[in-house]
Amino acid sequence: MDWKAKWLKPANDFGNAAPVFSTDFALSRTVKQARLFITALGVYEAALNGRRIGQFVLAPGWTTYYKRLQYQEYDVTDLLRAENHLTVTVGKGWYHSPMPGFSASDFQKGLAARPMGLLAQLEITYEDGQHSFIVSDESWSVSESAVRFSEIYDGEIYDASFIPPCSVAAETFNGPYETLIEQQGEEIREQERIAAVRIFTTPKGEVVADFGQEITGYVEISVNAKAGEEIRLSHAEVLDKDGCFYTENYRSARAEYCCICRDGQQSCQPRLTFFGFRYIRIDAFPGGPGAGKPENFTAVVLHSQMKRTGRLSCSNPLLNRLFDNIIWGQKGNFVDVPTDCPQRDERLGWTGDAQVFVRTACLNYDTEKFFTKWLADLAADQGEDGYVGHVIPDLLKKQPASAAWGDAAAICPWAVYLAYGNSEILSRQFESMRKWVDYITAHTTTEYLWTGGVHYGDWLGLDAPSGSYKGSSREDFIASAFYAHSASLVIKAGLVLGKDMAAYEALLHNIVSAFRRAYPTYTTQTECVLAAHFHLAEDCQAAADQLALMIKECGTKLQTGFVGTPYLLHVLSDYGHTDLAYSLLLREQYPSWLYPVTKGATTVWEHWDGIMENGDFWSRNMNSFNHYAYGAVADWVYCCAAGITPAEGYPGYSKVRIAPAPDARLDWLEASLDTRHGRIISRWKKQDSLWRYEITTPVDAEVVIDGKTFLVSAGSYIYHSSIQLA
Ligand code: BGC
Repeated sequence: MDWKAKWLKPANDFGNAAPVFSTDFALSRTVKQARLFITALGVYEAALNGRRIGQFVLAPGWTTYYKRLQYQEYDVTDLLRAENHLTVTVGKGWYHSPMPGFSASDFQKGLAARPMGLLAQLEITYEDGQHSFIVSDESWSVSESAVRFSEIYDGEIYDASFIPPCSVAAETFNGPYETLIEQQGEEIREQERIAAVRIFTTPKGEVVADFGQEITGYVEISVNAKAGEEIRLSHAEVLDKDGCFYTENYRSARAEYCCICRDGQQSCQPRLTFFGFRYIRIDAFPGGPGAGKPENFTAVVLHSQMKRTGRLSCSNPLLNRLFDNIIWGQKGNFVDVPTDCPQRDERLGWTGDAQVFVRTACLNYDTEKFFTKWLADLAADQGEDGYVGHVIPDLLKKQPASAAWGDAAAICPWAVYLAYGNSEILSRQFESMRKWVDYITAHTTTEYLWTGGVHYGDWLGLDAPSGSYKGSSREDFIASAFYAHSASLVIKAGLVLGKDMAAYEALLHNIVSAFRRAYPTYTTQTECVLAAHFHLAEDCQAAADQLALMIKECGTKLQTGFVGTPYLLHVLSDYGHTDLAYSLLLREQYPSWLYPVTKGATTVWEHWDGIMENGDFWSRNMNSFNHYAYGAVADWVYCCAAGITPAEGYPGYSKVRIAPAPDARLDWLEASLDTRHGRIISRWKKQDSLWRYEITTPVDAEVVIDGKTFLVSAGSYIYHSSIQLA
């Protein structure tokens, strides 16, 4: 891209007001095509002749800005007239907001010290073959916009009656060109609209609107008002046990929207920020908060533009709600970066959470492009020594790296490769994967294990000692297990790419031997899970049997946290305990996946008991109700319950294995998956005391029923189990 445009910033300090840059130009010849290339240091919204350009909300998205800043290209031919007015409003966005809210990082302070800016280049091609350029430069104007305040955590203030002072000339500055890259990820777009279900008054007298679903996005308000009248909204995920509006778990994020109205019928909404919420409190409204009616409020759902590929359903309504909640968890946390949560003062790309959920993410939606961009940021942020940040983009720069968080560098590319069968992701990430394993090798205090580090452990494991967030599994055990796992993935990736992996094969061999010597016994559910799932145990069957016993001995309850939970049911069903896996999946009492559903959850919670049996909250400050991590269980439902996996050696499902594992506590279950080769459907249901299996495969498949394997070609098949149902 040949940039003729210059970076612009406001000549004066506008304080919190978002600047709006503008230029006017006339066209006298017939235009064949006009393309706008544009980006910002901040987030921008551009309009040509009053009409919004493109659908990308919060463009240019969030990348590791010091190294990679995306620009976008829009075809604006249809928006042009003879006389034209181009405006671009730039808000703080991820670039300038004080992130994370719990400790404004030095890294972010460094970004904030640099100006917010705009770079725009309109390239016009005429019917006669000539070209002209309208580029951001000193001829552009800038003024304060009606967006009086906008920031990621605190929200936005919009003054529709604001009369901008005279524009002044914008100032050019030495902004970045060398870090500019084409749009690489998916665009964030408005995806769905949800009407308010009801408006009610809480015991504290608050007027609250309920959208019936926790979402990420904002509220569009349509109202008839007088100039100067105010609308003020606060956002919340849940009500407290008295039915009152509850925002303590947003911590320092104010998450408020304010609109100062103009005269007449109008509609307003935030433009340069977003919220995670199900409820809004109407703090001010024309005529008073009580004058707000459901028809005044529509929740607008934002997320990255991803194609839905996977669907799960079954005969159990609670489980179906869990499946929906997992989808909503993904929608709400796939806003350009895979985030931990969309509401409190974090909304960060925690690497641990991403690796926990990546397999499920790749089944629910086509996330190849989404992860390709984020993993490129991971690699860009990676230290020379292979260090991988706790969050990507890495605002924290928090040393040292943590096991199971940094391992996202190896786990995510491999999961994306298996899901879509495209080795491009491995070519792009191989160096990053390898460097991560080398980082561990260089930083451990014990050769072939990973000891001496500082880790998050089995984060939020229920066997945590009192007062700790970390489960009781030994940190060195977890770190060493992931060292082996990541090394094994580097080897697999290298072999796909045709590399000589002998050195890493020897390393892995030594890690496994050292692991077996150091950890001959397992003390927690998570330790059993890792030993069996990563094939580290001398006797994986024994490790899985021990796991089953531990679960039964504590009353058929899981105790696992972020590290053990994603593989828990896999280990049970891989080693002959499928019935126990179903018992955990179908359990409705705390702790379980369905417990939050019984408490009315519409997304997946950070804690198994975010709302406890007695209605109290788990905590005030670490209690997100939209944390996708435990939604990773959907992967087991697709792969084990419905039994759909790529056949061994056929990443991307060019050949599939379908080995359904029904359970009599469900009457039927169905999974469908749109792969690059077509739609796979696996459905089982009870019929005349037998299981009836309906399978559709677009490619050759190994079908496993009653332990027998059939090889079939593309088509639809029905099988009946010979095993009589109890
Ligand atoms: C986040 C987690 C994250 C963790 C690190 C939390 O504050 O919300 O999901 O992985 O910190 O342990």
